[in-house]
Amino acid sequence: MSARLIDGFGRVHNNLRISVTDRCNLRCTYCMPEEVAFLPREELLTFEEIARVVRVGVGLGIDKLRLTGGEPLMRRHLDRLVALLTAVTGTRDISLTTNGLLLNEQAEALYHAGLRRINVSLDTLRPEIFRQLTRRDGLKQILTGLEVAQEVGFHPIKLNAVVVRGVNEADIVPLVRFSRENGFEMRFIEYMPIGAEPWERAKVVFAHEIMECIESEVGALIPAPDYDPRSPAMEFCFADGRGRVGIIASVSRPFCRQCNRIRLTADGKLRNCLFALEETDLKSVLRRGGSDEEIAEVFRANIADKWEGHEINTARFVKPLRTMHAIGG
Ligand code: GTP
Ligand code: 5AD
Ligand code: SF4
Repeated sequence: MSARLIDGFGRVHNNLRISVTDRCNLRCTYCMPEEVAFLPREELLTFEEIARVVRVGVGLGIDKLRLTGGEPLMRRHLDRLVALLTAVTGTRDISLTTNGLLLNEQAEALYHAGLRRINVSLDTLRPEIFRQLTRRDGLKQILTGLEVAQEVGFHPIKLNAVVVRGVNEADIVPLVRFSRENGFEMRFIEYMPIGAEPWERAKVVFAHEIMECIESEVGALIPAPDYDPRSPAMEFCFADGRGRVGIIASVSRPFCRQCNRIRLTADGKLRNCLFALEETDLKSVLRRGGSDEEIAEVFRANIADKWEGHEINTARFVKPLRTMHAIGG
C-alpha cells in the first residue's frame, strides 16, 4: 500500500488544514449564524494531539499545513502550537488564515515561533459594510494588525475577500488599490453555500465579473508566472508590474480535480472535502491510545472515501451540517 495519501481519482494529498477552534470574534453572515453553541473545551484536540496527527501525516506525505478556525487566534497561546509544528521535520510550509483582529497583539510571537506567511480576511474598507458583514466592529483594529504584521516581517500577506452581490462588490476596486499600494496580495473569493444564511447563485459575483471590474478600473492583468496550479486561486500580476491579484472561483470554476486538501476539525475529525457530508473520527483513536499506524489508517480510509468533487452546481448538492466556522475556512 502506498505511503502517500492518494484517492480513487489519483489525487495526491499533501495539504492539511487544521482548525484549532470553532470560536470567532466576528460573526460573518456568509460563514456562521449570529448565535452558536461552541464546542466545549475538552472536545478540542490539545496542541500535543494536533502535533502527533501532523507527525503521522508528514509520514504520509503531508508537507503543507494551514491553521484555521473559527478564528485561530482565539485559541490561547497559538504560538506554542506553531513552534511545535515548525519543529516537525518535513513540513515545509506552514501558514495561518485569520480575520486579523488579534494580529496586533500576536504577530510578533507568531513570527518568533516560526510562522512566516499569513492570509487575512478583509471584505471591505467601509466601516458600515464591515459591520453589516461581520455583525461586529473592528475594521480599524484589523488595519493596525496588518501594519504590525508587515513590520514584524510576514511575507507574503494575502488578503481574502468573499464578494457577495448587493453587499460589497463596490469594495473590489478600493481593496485592489489598497493592496497594490501597501504590498499585499489581494484575493477575491466566490461566495459558496457553506454558511448559515440561505445561499443563492444570484448573490455570487463570478470570477469573470471580478476580473472585468479590476481590468477596466485599475489595469490589465496577466497570469502570474509562478502560479501554482494546485492552489485554488488563479493568480495574476498587473501588467505594469505593481501588485498581484488572486481569484478563487470555487463556484464557477471548481478546482476539485486538482484537490490536494484534507481537513482536521478542532474536535478531531478528518474531512476529505470542505463540503464532505461524512467525517472520520480521529480523536477517539488518539484518546484511547491508538498507535501511529492506526492514525495513519484513519487518514488512508478517509482519503479512500473521497468523492470526485463538490456538487454546488447541480441539483444533487447537499449542504454540510457544519457551517464554515466549524469546518475551517
Ligand atoms: P495558500 O494558497 O497556500 O495561501 O492558501 P489557500 O488559498 O488555500 O488558503 P486560504 O485559507 O486563504 O483559503 C482561501 C479561501 O479558499 C477559503 O477561505 C475558502 O473560501 C476557499 N477554500 C479553501 N479551501 C477550499 C476547499 O477545499 N474547497 C473550496 N471549494 N474552497 C476552498
Ligand atoms: N464562501 C466563501 N468563503 C467563505 N469563507 C467563509 N465562508 C465562506 C463562504 N460562504 C472563507 C472566507 C473567510 C474564511 C475564514 O473562510 O475566506 O475569510
Ligand atoms: Fe477538494 Fe472538496 Fe474543495 Fe473540491 S470542494 S477542492 S474536492 S475539498
